[in-house]
Amino acid sequence: MKPIVTLTLNSSVDVQWEVEDMVPIRKLRASSPLQFAGGGGINVSRVIKTLGGQSIAIHTAGWYTGHFFRELIEAQGLLTRTIPIVGRTRTSATVFERSTGQEFRITPPGPELSEAEWQACLNALFDHECDLVVLTGSLPLGVPNDFYGRAAHMAKERGQRVILDTSGVALFEALKEGVYLVKPNLNELEHLVGRRASEMKDREDICRQIIDEGKAEVVALTMGEDGALLVSKAGVTRLTTPKVDVKSAVGAGDSFVGGMTLGVALDWPLEDAFALGVATGTATVLTVGTELCRREDVERLYKEIHGKPLALQS
Ligand SMILES: Nc1ncnc2c1ncn2[C@@H]1O[C@H](COP(=O)(O)OP(=O)(O)OP(=O)(O)O)[C@@H](O)[C@H]1O
Ligand SMILES: [Mg+2]
Repeated sequence: MKPIVTLTLNSSVDVQWEVEDMVPIRKLRASSPLQFAGGGGINVSRVIKTLGGQSIAIHTAGWYTGHFFRELIEAQGLLTRTIPIVGRTRTSATVFERSTGQEFRITPPGPELSEAEWQACLNALFDHECDLVVLTGSLPLGVPNDFYGRAAHMAKERGQRVILDTSGVALFEALKEGVYLVKPNLNELEHLVGRRASEMKDREDICRQIIDEGKAEVVALTMGEDGALLVSKAGVTRLTTPKVDVKSAVGAGDSFVGGMTLGVALDWPLEDAFALGVATGTATVLTVGTELCRREDVERLYKEIHGKPLALQS
């Protein structure tokens, strides 16, 4: 397997409770909290681990919450590299209301990074021998808009491939530099080109244009319950997802990236890696809150979506 590095600039302690009813003022009796280390790159690394792969998760950590975050990651058995920061690692909360099946999410912005801190993150990315660099998530306060573009430039100089999942100006700036694979969702794609794209043909054309302009070699456009579109020089593939019992779509995009990255790292044909992404994203919506996918669900869904058995190492 080709070595993978993920980066989490805005780490998060994700706490999750279940209550019967969300009502104001009254004391709500909650289940014992579930706690996970989260943030885009961490989620990607968690998924890769669940599917039997390995990656190095580079992440920021600061203050007491940063210590707690590190303990959580160690418990999850990930290989990590910590970049200490002065700011406070954020805590995000999810509350699942049993009576309605609704989920409430609270996500603070997270700490500002100093120039020395974001430079340390950039340098750490290239301290590790790797073939695939996964850049996901929005940029914290203090980090320049072209941070992912700079990382993409450094990766290119070293012959490494970048897998990018971000939004807005960070996405725009990174694509100016060019990456191997970009995974926008429909909103992000529409925002990038400044117009709606309700027809499938139009979406394909936009993805093809991204490739023709040299901004990415592969575009994987995810469309929530409508599945995903894979566009490369070789052509276009669409996969739909089966109707599933949706518990929570939190982390579906990160899970897609984790599954597809693992397939690419294993040198699978692009269509198979893409199908692993779709199966993994879909498997994640079957679990509540910030819990991600279960391996048995990924195996079942891969067969259902792609028509082939999934052969992963344990
Ligand atoms: N409601 C759903 N039903 C079935 N599959 C889903 C659903 N939502 C997401 N998925 C699966 O997860 C993949 C990624 O989801 P989506 O397009 O919502 O990503 P995203 O918008 O980037 O998510 P995130 O909010 O995590 O960033 C989809 O391609 C699909 O396979
Ligand atoms: Mg996303």
